[in-house]
Amino acid sequence: MTTVRMRPIMTRVAAKTGEPAQETAVDYAIEARSLRAYYGENLALKDVTLPMRRNYVTAIIGPSGCGKSTLVRCLNRMHELVPGARIEGKVLFGGADINAAGVDPVELRSRIGMVFQKPNPFPKSIYANVAFGLKINGHKGNMAEAVERSLRQAALWDEVKDRLNSPALSLSGGQQQRLCIARAIAIEPEVVLMDEPCSALDPIATMAIEDLIRRLKERYSIVIVTHNMQQAARVSDETAFLMVDQDRAGYLVEFDATERIFTNPSHEQTEAYITGRFS
Ligand SMILES: Nc1ncnc2c1ncn2[C@@H]1O[C@H](COP(=O)(O)OP(=O)(O)OP(=O)(O)O)[C@@H](O)[C@H]1O
Ligand SMILES: [Mg+2]
Repeated sequence: MTTVRMRPIMTRVAAKTGEPAQETAVDYAIEARSLRAYYGENLALKDVTLPMRRNYVTAIIGPSGCGKSTLVRCLNRMHELVPGARIEGKVLFGGADINAAGVDPVELRSRIGMVFQKPNPFPKSIYANVAFGLKINGHKGNMAEAVERSLRQAALWDEVKDRLNSPALSLSGGQQQRLCIARAIAIEPEVVLMDEPCSALDPIATMAIEDLIRRLKERYSIVIVTHNMQQAARVSDETAFLMVDQDRAGYLVEFDATERIFTNPSHEQTEAYITGRFS
């Protein structure tokens, strides 16, 4: 059985003026609503309803194969790039259906950026990697300033400012991952999806990325898939726990404030998973 704990979609806001409290819509960056994802005939994700708040870090945890990567790829329409893949249900971005007729997936992906597990810089210079997205998006302003701003936001500027024309592939793994984050944020997306961004990194590089994520949420909404539960506990505001059923379909077990998930989860399966008693 699946129980999903969620914040109500409306929240009470006390009026400062002594007027009666008003109902105000919570500001979600992205919402999955009864989302089902298929690869051909195979159901990989069933009925996931997950509202991800603006300027929050939302963590997605769960065992291998439960559909975490599938879920994040549905959030910026990368799932449809797999031949035979399709979805049912809805993904809302700023309240609008991302799969509605007329939505340009390329434009959508410029507003919902993605950082992958393995750093994947282009075989070009450090500078060219960050400038790339700006160029294809027709950036009108000062390119060098925009590159510097993105590298500073990604906490990489000081390490690369004297070697901007060096190949990106000459950077360390942790630097390459921060470069990929700089490339993703250069075009000022609203949401950054990160699929296990630290799994190829050592603990020091991991800490650098975690510091970065905490700072980035002031500007962006972040969704991070991680196998590292300490990481989810350290960086995220809310956590979704997914499991996989006998038919290998992933489903949402529980979604709540991260602190609650890790200290007092509502569901036995969550408790078993976070305490390592998962079988
Ligand atoms: N391109 C694909 N074609 C067919 N099936 C796929 C594809 N990608 C994933 N799947 C299937 O969808 C299910 C969910 O996979 P997914 O990669 O989303 O899991 P995950 O939770 O990210 O796992 P991991 O923690 O190992 O990365 C699995 O059963 C997987 O075999
Ligand atoms: Mg995955």
